[in-house]
Amino acid sequence: MQVNPLHPLFAAELVGADLTVRPNEQLVRTVEDAMALYGVLAIRDAEISDEQQIMFSRAFGPLEIPSRVPGAARPVGKRRITPEIFYAGNLDHDGEIVPYGSDPKSLAKGAERFHTDSSFHTMPTKWSLLHGVETPPPSVGGDTWFVDARAAYDDLSDAMKARIENLVGLHDFWEGRKLAGFKAEITPEMRLVIPFPTVKHSLVRTMPYGRKTIYVGGHCFGIEGMGAEEGLALVEELYAHATQEKYVYRHQWRQWDLVIWDNRCTMHAATPLLSDRYRRDMRRTTINESGPETSAYEWMGLADAA
Ligand code: OGA
Ligand code: MN
Repeated sequence: MQVNPLHPLFAAELVGADLTVRPNEQLVRTVEDAMALYGVLAIRDAEISDEQQIMFSRAFGPLEIPSRVPGAARPVGKRRITPEIFYAGNLDHDGEIVPYGSDPKSLAKGAERFHTDSSFHTMPTKWSLLHGVETPPPSVGGDTWFVDARAAYDDLSDAMKARIENLVGLHDFWEGRKLAGFKAEITPEMRLVIPFPTVKHSLVRTMPYGRKTIYVGGHCFGIEGMGAEEGLALVEELYAHATQEKYVYRHQWRQWDLVIWDNRCTMHAATPLLSDRYRRDMRRTTINESGPETSAYEWMGLADAA
């Protein structure tokens, strides 16, 4: 196995790993060490099934089960795959291509703003693992961009570090969609369908290996105890700082890449597919630092909210 850096600050690829069998201690340690160092790790040639992706993911923490709209068996219109997996591709439930932007109710465009998965809930989020089962040619878009929020933290002035040290960010699923340019008005009915309330997370997080990082995600819209305008201005200042070119790694997908990112210390953004002729079949597992394998809805007591 070999780990090769992909960017001057963070992100690496792992070649020569066999993900078809239960991961041994050496593979688990290699991946944990690379993730602590690089924050993003693209495992190449992971030609594996959904079940093997789940088995591999579980070696690093309990799964976060995707939240279902209360009462529904699976997300509306989404590809029918195993309920442990979050579907992030452009195929509908029958495996046909959904033209980009054709669904006015689609929330997927929210992913085109830099965000961290799951910051809008209270589970102890760790990593996402996204599998490129079918990937378009690089020339038609569909790259995923990443930023290193640890490097961005390191470069803050001492005054800014002191200012934000003990602040708490406010995160909200629907406010995040608004920040991402979701045009439709957010109605009480929508809040009933996806019932996440506003949650709080420390603005500065310390990783288990000691590095500090900015946690603003894409769903962070304010700061506890600050006026709405002042809070949003600070969030946007940190967000603009962290998403500068120098902190960005652009991942061009190869088929069977399994890209792992640490949601605690990186942000990522989808980029649009420029052609509807290509299939992009992307399947995500999400893991937590600890806790039972459950959905955020169950964890937060929202499962029966509607
Ligand atoms: C995700 C996500 C981006 C992409 O799966 O969480 O943001 O490029 N995906 O598919
Ligand atoms: Mn995402």
